[in-house]
Amino acid sequence: MTASRTPIAILISGRGSNMATLVAASQAADCPYRVVLVAANDPDAGGIALAQAAGIPTFAHSHKGLKRADFDALLDTAIRAAGAERIALAGYMRLLSPGFIAGWQGRIVNIHPSLLPLYKGLDTHARAIAAGDAEAGCSVHVVTPELDDGPVLAQARVPILQGDDADTLAARVLVAEHRLYPQALAEWVRA
Ligand code: GAR
Repeated sequence: MTASRTPIAILISGRGSNMATLVAASQAADCPYRVVLVAANDPDAGGIALAQAAGIPTFAHSHKGLKRADFDALLDTAIRAAGAERIALAGYMRLLSPGFIAGWQGRIVNIHPSLLPLYKGLDTHARAIAAGDAEAGCSVHVVTPELDDGPVLAQARVPILQGDDADTLAARVLVAEHRLYPQALAEWVRA
């Protein structure tokens, strides 16, 4: 069974809570993917220790001092060496170079903490509150060269409550992310 699951690499930059939920979900008998690599552009990313504790191979190198395309080439080599066939971005906070994306066309997904097409980029929660929105949420989408722009595969919504600040809203959205991402990733891999 394990060998027939689609091998995926997960890219992170920080604490890796979404990565951890994807790894946990991959342990279910009927999960269509298995995680063959967790890669980070920051050697101190908290998620790397989580991945190591789960026995998953890791790649953790700083992008600092390297041109974007050169770092992405290292990343690409590590991902291919691990045997990954698809990539899930989970809090990977660095733009991927066009060449990297072209090499994985249609095979990278991302989770973004807004109801796309609203609030591409950073500070999504503060922007949703400032706009007076009644709802916020998260989106899983296919990655294309334009930032946070590819086809949306799935979304989850949460209310914005009176008195919310960016942190309280982010925490509510994150709970929704942890439910949505494993499900959306499994559906995308099966499709
Ligand atoms: C998540 O909220 C994710 O949606 C967001 O970063 C956080 C990472 O948390 N990603 C982006 O903003 C990408 N543009 P995590 O490291 O605990 O999964």
